[in-house]
Amino acid sequence: MKPFQMRCIECGKPHDMDRPAYACSSCGNLLEVRMDLKSAKQRLSKSGFRKRPLSVWRYRELIPVGKDAHIFSIHEGGTPLIRCPRIADQLGLKSLWVKFDGANPTGSFKDRGMTVGITKAKELGMSTVTCASTGNTSASLAAYASIAGMKCVVLIPEGKVALGKLSQAMMHGATVVSVKGNFDQALDMVMSSSGKLGMYVLNSVNPFRIEGQKTAAYEVCDQLGGVAPKVLYIPVGNGGNSAAYWKGFDEYESLGQCVGRPIIRGIQAEGAAPVADMFRKGSKELVPVKKPDTVATAIRIGNPANWKKTVRAIRDSGGYASTVSDDEILAAQKMMARMEGIFAEPAGAAALAGLVKDVDLGEVDRAAEIVCVSTGHGLKDPDTAIGQCDKPRESEANVKSLEKVLAGGGR
Ligand code: F0G
Repeated sequence: MKPFQMRCIECGKPHDMDRPAYACSSCGNLLEVRMDLKSAKQRLSKSGFRKRPLSVWRYRELIPVGKDAHIFSIHEGGTPLIRCPRIADQLGLKSLWVKFDGANPTGSFKDRGMTVGITKAKELGMSTVTCASTGNTSASLAAYASIAGMKCVVLIPEGKVALGKLSQAMMHGATVVSVKGNFDQALDMVMSSSGKLGMYVLNSVNPFRIEGQKTAAYEVCDQLGGVAPKVLYIPVGNGGNSAAYWKGFDEYESLGQCVGRPIIRGIQAEGAAPVADMFRKGSKELVPVKKPDTVATAIRIGNPANWKKTVRAIRDSGGYASTVSDDEILAAQKMMARMEGIFAEPAGAAALAGLVKDVDLGEVDRAAEIVCVSTGHGLKDPDTAIGQCDKPRESEANVKSLEKVLAGGGR
């Protein structure tokens, strides 16, 4: 077997990795990259990779780009795994960590996928890249397209993208198209126009995006001293990241680099929960949510393109997907900010919200090592943050007035 092979997740048909492709030419299901474990073990053993700094490209030998590929990087990955003793105490848990992927260069986990996706786009000779996005993908793609000198076209749902994310896509020079519709419709437009318009799609339907994102799981294992956590809570939107994490844990254990694999607990917002619905009903097919809605705009997705991948990943891990309300998401966002100093955007607090809910329901092994993935930085969505907090108090420009204000005598 070749070191890497791209094939259909459903019928297994192999596809040429040196051509742009996202779906199987026979059955239309998504594609994935598989590595040959034997040769990967050999490459790893000679690589001395553990001496490299923690980052996406620390795991170069496990990433399917050519040996001589020019790597487009702005130091993505190597994000902190933060111990959260105060929240753990409050919830009665022994060991709780947050993998803070909001600490990536553009403020979300998307950078892990984009450094690989753009490197691959260049290998394929593409000059224009595109995506549909609830915000973070467009911000990240725009940044990586800029360092690769590529044109970038992003489609976003009108009025539903957090301000920080929009400002990034614009600032990095992308052509931003606001679509009068939701994310699902924008993604349909991207998929049906990209071939005709010669654009390479870097949504998470692109298998190389997943290959970058899986490194977060490798990192978590390395950060925990070679042992996987018992349970991993993660938000599910389009379903790419949860599938990528599972792929990472699965590969890393198979390569003998860590012990164990976590149960994956996929968390969706109540108003955009087609994957959680499948688990609740025990159904085999996804029924899209026509009008998804949630304060966590990043995961405001009704028809996740990667549903088969994520459902398979969550099931294989022995986990399941469930929902949290917007109020629960916002409460978890505040909890993280006020107890652990971690500022996450709402979607980046959904995993913790899911854990808090499980604790309330008595569904958590309190002695287990638990990791919550926080996917995006709070500065992405200042409006939602400010909307939840008291207004700043006002003081005249003198100490007397300040004293009065702090004594509660003024606003
Ligand atoms: N958290 C954040 C902050 C996100 O931006 C996203 C997805 C997710 C979680 C869900 O990840 O889609 O792989 O299941 N954002 C995409 C975007 C859809 O366009 O930025 P997923």
